[in-house]
Amino acid sequence: GGHRNSAGLDLSDVGTLEATVAAVNSPLPQAGGAGGGLALSSDAEAGVGRSTANGSVGGERVPTPSFSRLREGDQVVAAITRAHAAFPGWSTTPVDERAACLERLADLLEKHRDELMAICVQEAFKTIGDAIGEVREAADFCRYYAQQARLNLHPIELPGPTGERNTLHIEGRGVWATIAPWNFPLAIFLGQTVAALVTGNTVVAKPAPQTPQIAARAVELAHEAGVPVDALVLVTGGPEVGAALTADVRIQGVAFTGSTATSRKIARSLLDDETRPIVPLIAETGGINAMIVDSTALPEQVVADVIASSFRSAGQRCSALRLLLVQEDIADGVIEMLSGAMETLRIGRSGDPATDVGPVIDQAAYDRLMAYRESVKAKIVKTLDAPADGLFVPPTLVRIGAIEDLNQEWFGPILHVATWEAGKLSETIARVNAKGYGLTMGLHSRIARAAEVIEAEAAVGNLYINRSMIGAVVGSQPFGGEGLSGTGPKAGGPRYLYRFCAERAVSVDT
Ligand code: SER
Repeated sequence: GGHRNSAGLDLSDVGTLEATVAAVNSPLPQAGGAGGGLALSSDAEAGVGRSTANGSVGGERVPTPSFSRLREGDQVVAAITRAHAAFPGWSTTPVDERAACLERLADLLEKHRDELMAICVQEAFKTIGDAIGEVREAADFCRYYAQQARLNLHPIELPGPTGERNTLHIEGRGVWATIAPWNFPLAIFLGQTVAALVTGNTVVAKPAPQTPQIAARAVELAHEAGVPVDALVLVTGGPEVGAALTADVRIQGVAFTGSTATSRKIARSLLDDETRPIVPLIAETGGINAMIVDSTALPEQVVADVIASSFRSAGQRCSALRLLLVQEDIADGVIEMLSGAMETLRIGRSGDPATDVGPVIDQAAYDRLMAYRESVKAKIVKTLDAPADGLFVPPTLVRIGAIEDLNQEWFGPILHVATWEAGKLSETIARVNAKGYGLTMGLHSRIARAAEVIEAEAAVGNLYINRSMIGAVVGSQPFGGEGLSGTGPKAGGPRYLYRFCAERAVSVDT
């Protein structure tokens, strides 16, 4: 019984999810047995046909199970115990073998692409285009980190006087906790996790409570690819599970993507116990991301890039544009063109290939965004009609008087627009920086000097000039923010793996 969504995945029955997690964390029945006997895989595959036939996902959120009934404390302790016991074996597995596991996982992700896309559509309400991107990015992370590990994780011989041999080793630290968001439930979930694994750590991985099924399938495929079952253990649940995880003194590092408030809580909990080792926290959080447009910009390109940056993925990307700052001389024209372009956005069910903007993730997000939209009703300059039978937040453009009028990240398809005065580029950048976030910023301008100024002065991790502000590509646009937006390591960048490692220098008098 329970509430079934249209893929036939039963997300409401605690017993089912508990069994799923148990199955994922158990040794595989037969070598290479795709699916591992897990009901989830066949259900999800069956769901592909149904979802495309009906265009079925309308954003009707099935109730999330109450994880308090899963005895989360026990689940977490048992998971860490397993990962801890697996560490000596995995950390001494040659780096090339660990890298090969990631490469096999990338192949498996591609082999199961349609099934994984279907779960992303069903569970996270991804559009078809975003679901394709999700699987591709997950595979990219696997291959990129495998390559980086092969290049950078071997011992280095260092100079010394005759008779002394100096070697610098780089290796895993122990058990990492990886805590993932629902907005990239496969790509970020796996990206953080495989980075920790390939560097020789073992991992207890916790997906967002909204998206456990895609994570379960990803972990199952990682095991099929050769990652030992105890080297990667899945735990599911909400904040209490995350809290139990980070509170355990055996955790040697945390990679977290989510809200600034939660990352602060994690940082505190890691320092709680005076006897506990001081361990790294990699936090990737939100932003109040701005794009600055001057009068030399190409309006057509600006409009296309703003539409993509603000409304794709229903604005549910940490990189998404929240605050458009247009030079005042051209503001009315840009707003008019933008309003016209918004008309072309198709709001609809996530399984429908024609959809540009799907539903938001859950009822709470919907209520929060709609209440905010209501509170700024008088300032709305453009919005659209959305179907009433789902969690559809209409794309909305809100005109605000000053940069300082927006002080909160609204994680949905709501864009704010304000103006800035010609000649005040530096001041404008400084006013955006003053918000304290530092994830993405954009500039549209054909003045070379403006690009130089923003490059020197924008306090952000990712700066985008004359293009959209979303869709960082693994290996080309290493992604991660500073300030309130995170601790800075760049996912998909050449130095990310080092953040997961311990280094040891050994000197031998020969
Ligand atoms: N990596 C994603 C992007 O660039 C994060 O939001 O859009």
